[in-house]
Amino acid sequence: MQDALRLGIAGLGTVGASVARLLERHGDALASQLGRRVEVVAVCARERERQRGFVMGGIAWHDDPVSLARSDSIDVFVELIGGAGGTALESVNAALQTGKGVVTANKALLAAHGMDLARLAEARGAPLAFEAAVGGGIPIIKTLREALAGNRLTRITGILNGTCNFILTRMEEGMAYPAALREAQALGYAEADPSFDVEGFDTADKLAILTSVAFGTEIDRDAIFVEGISHIEPEDIAAADELGYRIKLLGVAQRTESGIESRVHPTMVPRDSDIARVSGVINAVSVEGDFIGAVMLSGPGAGGDATASAVVGDIIDLARGVRVPPLGRPAANLEPYRRAEMRAHEGGYYLRLKVRDRPGAFAAIARRMAEANISLDSIVQRNRPPGAAPKHGDDVLQPVTIITHSTTEAAVRGALGRIEAEGEIFGRPQMIRIEAM
Ligand SMILES: NC(=O)c1ccc[n+]([C@@H]2O[C@H](COP(=O)([O-])OP(=O)(O)OC[C@H]3O[C@@H](n4cnc5c(N)ncnc54)[C@H](OP(=O)(O)O)[C@@H]3O)[C@@H](O)[C@H]2O)c1
Repeated sequence: MQDALRLGIAGLGTVGASVARLLERHGDALASQLGRRVEVVAVCARERERQRGFVMGGIAWHDDPVSLARSDSIDVFVELIGGAGGTALESVNAALQTGKGVVTANKALLAAHGMDLARLAEARGAPLAFEAAVGGGIPIIKTLREALAGNRLTRITGILNGTCNFILTRMEEGMAYPAALREAQALGYAEADPSFDVEGFDTADKLAILTSVAFGTEIDRDAIFVEGISHIEPEDIAAADELGYRIKLLGVAQRTESGIESRVHPTMVPRDSDIARVSGVINAVSVEGDFIGAVMLSGPGAGGDATASAVVGDIIDLARGVRVPPLGRPAANLEPYRRAEMRAHEGGYYLRLKVRDRPGAFAAIARRMAEANISLDSIVQRNRPPGAAPKHGDDVLQPVTIITHSTTEAAVRGALGRIEAEGEIFGRPQMIRIEAM
């Protein structure tokens, strides 16, 4: 039998402890599959005394992840600490510098430093694997980098944050946003500070990685347009339902004539599309390519065990000696990311305005849309009986819902800007992009 593959795991929290438990439970079966054992020989976390649900006897303890990363006693460093910089970055750098393989689940680290890490890994001949960083247990990185590598991919559409999908699903069931968020927090899906999830930043980190692997471009997290879900109101959920859509927080990366459009925002998707049916904390990624057509993967996007499944999949590749450039092609062959401006985005739009109930207001709005060459699919004014309509000062406000045909972001923003300036509406207009699926 070949020598054992010796692992050092840094971080024994939700994911790290699950990885250790999986390897403990399936150790013999894996040895027989691989022709070599995979052994956890060293670990590192903050609190040494805490029970982690696996047998720690015989495993060396390190207080410092960097010293573990440099240790000659391990072949592969498994980084499950988290964070875009700090200890995670230092220790991954240290492991790669010494030519060790690295497996990580850390999307924030890769979105911020993935290019430097990929270059370093290649220069040192060290594998760098990160399946668990996107979509938790869903094998999307391997699918893009290996199984679909023969295609020219055209669009990736993903539900990449289970917390947001859970909140939107609960809103469809009748809850308002604050109550749905509180429930997500109570169930442990959302952090006490949920902004990283609900404002779309977590999805953007994952999309930055997917965009690079799918389109062969350098990772450019800052180029992604990001809008979260915290402004979605029950009226929008109800309107989407009436119009035959569901609202999802999507990460979309798409080739266009002017470059690659990478965007994260709440999106109306047709109710009968596969992605619309993905509910609760489940994640899904749909990939479109020239030979495959469309394929969708869905499954648990988080949770210790599902994420450990992906981490161990990477460890198995390393044990077998599988070597793939981290981002699917040599880093020197990745093209600079050519960003398509969001203003040039083309698609349908849902707009909801609170219009002051004055003669001519409705017509003025329709006129501004026509002036911007926006063709309307529908414009609906839901006149509420006097007394039932909301008021602002002396103004009665009537909700107006507009669905446009395909137009540009620039045209919609321009028209809305003029309508706002004319004072016909109260508050900020609601705008949700519609995605053809
Ligand atoms: N949780 C998920 O469902 C999930 C899904 C996909 C990807 N990920 C990614 O997986 C990574 C780990 O997430 P997690 O949920 O497992 O996090 P977690 O439960 O917070 O665990 C973090 C672990 O890192 C240890 N740690 C923190 N700072 C340290 C330091 N300076 N030195 C040594 N150890 C340190 C902690 O030690 P103590 O235990 O002693 O405090 C803990 O064991 C993150 O990058 C995350 O984005 C998580």
